[in-house]
Amino acid sequence: MKLEIAVLPGDGIGPEVTDQAIKVLKAIALEFDHMFKFRIADVGAVAIDNYGVPLPEQTLTLCASSDAILFGAIGHPKYDNDPSAKVRPEQGLLKLRKELGLFANIRPVKAYDTLLDKSPLKRHIIEGVDISIYRELTGGIYFGKKELSGDGNMASDLCQYSREEIERITHLAFEAAQNRRGKVTLVDKANVLETSRLWRKVVTEIAKQYSDVEMDFLFVDNAAMQMILNPKQFDVILTENLFGDIISDEASVIGGSIGLLASASVGKKYAMFEPVHGSFPQAKNKGIANPIASILSAALLLEHFELFNEAQMIRIAVDKSLKLHISTPDINANYDTISTSKVGDFIEDFIHNPGDTNMN
Ligand code: IPM
Ligand code: MN
Repeated sequence: MKLEIAVLPGDGIGPEVTDQAIKVLKAIALEFDHMFKFRIADVGAVAIDNYGVPLPEQTLTLCASSDAILFGAIGHPKYDNDPSAKVRPEQGLLKLRKELGLFANIRPVKAYDTLLDKSPLKRHIIEGVDISIYRELTGGIYFGKKELSGDGNMASDLCQYSREEIERITHLAFEAAQNRRGKVTLVDKANVLETSRLWRKVVTEIAKQYSDVEMDFLFVDNAAMQMILNPKQFDVILTENLFGDIISDEASVIGGSIGLLASASVGKKYAMFEPVHGSFPQAKNKGIANPIASILSAALLLEHFELFNEAQMIRIAVDKSLKLHISTPDINANYDTISTSKVGDFIEDFIHNPGDTNMN
């Protein structure tokens, strides 16, 4: 298969983890006889430095003319504590999602057997957890009208959802559940928010078309508690933009590190693959950033193009690296010799010589 992949490394640890994902994709291309072409462009704080905007026109054009996008991370501390900043790196990511219509953000969360003791949660609570979060990504409070009034002393963010925005991701979530354990949990705040009541109404209607899928509802405050009390109850979680952002960071604790969580953002036409973690500026260029989230995002990219054996190869390699503690400090106490690129190297080598590792 021929694929043109736009690579947007972005800020902080974005470039170093993305490098590992590219390395792994190149190994896959070689072993499975594919042609992957990588085209790199700026986004985020680095784009503001170079072009004055977080999403330059040429970056957007490149993404729109590629088969898929591999995204690194976005954000820089110099903007975080400056409420008056007019341009922010995050605007680049939000604009990219909106312009490309990436309305569904799929975030798989699972407990790795080899990492059960890395999570602050008890082993028996997390063992066997396998959740797929479907987060709506181009609507809600993230994109509603924003206003600062009253001489800067009054602020508002509008949360708005249309039936159509709810319907399209709901279908994806139910289809996913059909191929999993057959359950969708809608997380909302329907006891307070009008938008949540619309979500419940629309999702309840659509659920009737999927009689093989069980459906339940949870208020987001309760869902946050259930996520650490009894995460095994979840199969597919369907939720709006802001709740999905929050609940997925919480869920990352189950896997032992947010450095392991990958995600796919898909729309009708485009698809982008990105780690759930942020730019982790303190770790930049120290070789301590975990590249697994980026590498598993590459696996999701391959699955998107139905390259299932290829993706499976990456997953097996990742499992093996975890089992052998070829890992960065977030999940490895003896990390002094293991760096970001060494994890990438191990996975690359494994793909070239899966039988050779002699470490089964
Ligand atoms: C994420 C991030 C983004 C979000 C930020 C960087 C805008 O936290 O992808 O989860 O809030 O969606
Ligand atoms: Mn987030």
